[in-house]
Amino acid sequence: GGLPPFRNDPNIDFTIKAARDSFVAAIATVRSKAGATYPLFIGGRDVTTSDTIASYNPADPDEILGHVCQAGTGEVDDAIAAAERAFPAWRDTAPEDRAAVLLKAAAICRARIFELSAIQVLEVGKQWDQAYHDVTEAIDFLEYYAREMIRLGKPRRMGNAPGELNHLFYQPKGIAAVIAPWNFPLAISLGMVSAAIVTGNPVIYKPASISSIIGHGMVDIFRQAGLPDGVFNFCPGRSRVMGDYLVEHPKISVIAFTGSVEVGLRIQEKAAVVRPGQEQCKRVIAEMGGKNAIIVDDDADLDEAVLHVMYSAFGFQGQKCSACSRVIVVEPIYERFIERLVEAAKSVKIGPSEDPSNYMGPVADLSQQRNVREYIEIARKEGRILVEREVPDKGCYAPLTIVEGIEPHHRIAQEEIFGPVLAVMKAKDFDQAIAIANSTRFALTGGVFSRSPRHLEKAKKEFRVGNLYLNRNNTGALVYRQPFGGFKMSGVGSKAGGPDYLLQFMDPRCVTENT
Ligand code: SER
Repeated sequence: GGLPPFRNDPNIDFTIKAARDSFVAAIATVRSKAGATYPLFIGGRDVTTSDTIASYNPADPDEILGHVCQAGTGEVDDAIAAAERAFPAWRDTAPEDRAAVLLKAAAICRARIFELSAIQVLEVGKQWDQAYHDVTEAIDFLEYYAREMIRLGKPRRMGNAPGELNHLFYQPKGIAAVIAPWNFPLAISLGMVSAAIVTGNPVIYKPASISSIIGHGMVDIFRQAGLPDGVFNFCPGRSRVMGDYLVEHPKISVIAFTGSVEVGLRIQEKAAVVRPGQEQCKRVIAEMGGKNAIIVDDDADLDEAVLHVMYSAFGFQGQKCSACSRVIVVEPIYERFIERLVEAAKSVKIGPSEDPSNYMGPVADLSQQRNVREYIEIARKEGRILVEREVPDKGCYAPLTIVEGIEPHHRIAQEEIFGPVLAVMKAKDFDQAIAIANSTRFALTGGVFSRSPRHLEKAKKEFRVGNLYLNRNNTGALVYRQPFGGFKMSGVGSKAGGPDYLLQFMDPRCVTENT
């Protein structure tokens, strides 16, 4: 029997007691493992190092969840050597068999979904529902890319000239370095890793240090799924020790990165330089952030607009590349909208994400907290603070902040903050709102709340972003339904969870036979 068509993994309803109980139990289970040491995984073997980093709970930095071994350049060499040994056999494994490993990994994630969610609550401070959604998205990537590889794995006959047989097919590019962010710690990691693996490329995976324990979870997932040794190598490490070394290594053929524009541009620059022993140009796929806007038109449904702007701006503390960080309000509705937004922002509960009644939790670590607080000081100088919520003293909290009077030339209107800071900008009409929306170097997501068909049409054409959402929130793209990714300085490469994504990990070949 064939594979059933792709479907997004279902969400969960935490109003059901059994679901809540399972989540609470999973948090306790994760906690019971606190203090463990997490080794690297190279060539199918656990490798410990003397250098480790402690991963802590951002709601309480005294709670150490575990100690994560750190790769130096020697371990990177070992991992690349293991990947090189694994490459020929994995490359020549049938696409269906490679896809089967992803489907097994998806089943393993499904069976462990509460635990894989609970660890995110403790390690990065995700709310329950958002943590669960991260795991369903990870499962979606596995299921979708498995099917995509089966589709792309069949050689395609080209043309129909008599006496000639042409076949177009794809081969893997080679060893991939996957450099992942901490904000969607399983979904984006597994998305990039599974795309590389299913297309036949061995992977050196460097998780973000903030979310390394979640990253380590992939070791067991792939081990249980029966992935051959050396195809997935877990290589956490300090960026300044081994980051450039990995990117510059002549044996790396593909670099899949998600993170800041600064790091993304640095990777592209380093990857462009050909080193001794390097046989091919490196392909860089980089997803690099946004400065996303939602436009609120004068006829918008304000109940909806307030709810969705709140969620887009402050869900997971605004730490999503898709998050709304600018709300552009058309003049006639400005006062009414702002009044409602401020009221909503003052009423939400803030505290540890472990308690599901909290709407907003801590930011991911102490350095994020410092960074966001610096931006709040800039906001204070550039605009007028409308809301700055009090937050707990202990823990990596940054106040939920709304600032008005922000103009396109302000830093708060241009720089990605990656935290719960929302800039309010005023436009005299819808046309000007679109112009302001487009006035950054980023082009990732955008949103419009309007009842005017003419304005919505105009936005479809002229609000130039990778993912535009009309009359809904602008985060939470679903695999296959909303292929995700932007352009301009938001990224290079095609959309994750979309039909072009896997092609980036392969080289096309064409064989012509004279018959
Ligand atoms: N895909 C995520 C979202 O849409 C961001 O990475 O929110």
